[in-house]
Amino acid sequence: MQTIPRDPSLDSTLDVVREGFPFIWNRVRNLHSDIFQIRLMGQRAICLHGPEAAELFYDPAYFVRTGAVPRRVQTTLMGLDAVQTHDGAEHRCRKDAFMALMTPQSRGRLMRLLAREWQAAAEYWAGQEEIVLFDEAQEVLCRAACAWAGVPLPDEDARRRARDFGLMVDAFGGAGPRHWRGKRARTRTEDWMEGLIKQIRKGRLEVAAGSPADVMAGLGDADGELLSARMAAIELINVVRPIVAIATYITFAAVALHEYPAYKGLLRADEEYTEYFVQEVRRDFPFAPFLGARVRQDFTWRGCRFDKGTLVLLDVYGLNHDPRVWPEPNVFWPDRFRHQAISPYNFIPQGGGYYDTGHRCAGEWITIETLKQAVTFLNTGIRYEVPAQDLRYDLTRMPTLPASGFVMRQVRPTGQPA
Ligand code: HEM
Repeated sequence: MQTIPRDPSLDSTLDVVREGFPFIWNRVRNLHSDIFQIRLMGQRAICLHGPEAAELFYDPAYFVRTGAVPRRVQTTLMGLDAVQTHDGAEHRCRKDAFMALMTPQSRGRLMRLLAREWQAAAEYWAGQEEIVLFDEAQEVLCRAACAWAGVPLPDEDARRRARDFGLMVDAFGGAGPRHWRGKRARTRTEDWMEGLIKQIRKGRLEVAAGSPADVMAGLGDADGELLSARMAAIELINVVRPIVAIATYITFAAVALHEYPAYKGLLRADEEYTEYFVQEVRRDFPFAPFLGARVRQDFTWRGCRFDKGTLVLLDVYGLNHDPRVWPEPNVFWPDRFRHQAISPYNFIPQGGGYYDTGHRCAGEWITIETLKQAVTFLNTGIRYEVPAQDLRYDLTRMPTLPASGFVMRQVRPTGQPA
């Protein structure tokens, strides 16, 4: 049996806070190993890195999600007892409901709603001296996501609801006030959505058949029992909240367009290039740092022993910056996606493995399509100036964002559709 290399720190919890996104990647390089062990909040954990490790991590024969997501992340980011925390039949039941919303027709409807919202926003921005793209994008995404989901959203509420979805995401790596702000935002949002689910179930609110609100209101568990109204609300939030979270990638995409203007022409000339550009945004800029699971049964991998119940963390950020997978990983270079062979395990910004049977993000297609539309809109749908501002982002903060949120001045719509 091989000994798994050990991080010398007695407990790495503070190092995770201090180092943020590259925590696992830093140790992979220092210990020259894609597997090592640490102590985290008093318990032993194994950290994994690389495509082979991702393939292992996504094999449900070896890992479960039950008990892997810390309560503080559940009470802010995803909701207690949500799809992400289940295994087996219960997971399958909920995941099927999410995947049923991801047909090309359904995604097409979301894209049309989004196009309308971007145009309306551009006209509003034209009357403002300057705007912060991150805040505005959250509102655009929130309006379109709610309309798509069948969630009534009065105009005057759009800003604060969008902000609440954003605060839930912002809290996932935070402590103290950031955590409490996210938790309060979640309670407000769950109260709101639970009310809607109850109205739908009583027939007082009519929603389109097959819409996310309809699907979640009618969702049962693995035994066929209707989910509680609160649980259905949590899963409905798991549709809208991550769409609003795409604002983070849109803001990073705006930074990339600004810092590498040579790509603007290529994006106009070659439709396929937009896909490469968007994939490079998802690779190069940080969002999910790492993912957790627990060992289902004792097993051995590459001579290393994994004991039942051990917490295992898979490196997401580091894999996107590993030169063994991505040549010149710190260069923003969309062309790499022309030739790079993508597998379910070597490019995992939104999780790896398979959508239907595993935990891979149900919204990856929506994310890519929404980003492509937003990049085209920023490149050809509007003209704007970018004043001097701080565009740096802090890798020790999870999640992170360019400090200024990307300020734009003198925005003018060009009239070209998004
Ligand atoms: C799961 C990231 C957008 C719905 C996940 C996971 C990650 C992720 C890292 C965990 C995968 C795992 O546990 O193995 C992101 C990012 C997004 C995004 C960075 C864009 C900003 C979306 C969208 C939707 C969505 C737009 C739906 C409309 C889900 C669901 C899961 C999930 C339902 C749980 C899947 C499961 O446990 O089976 N996402 N996501 N996400 N995501 Fe996303």
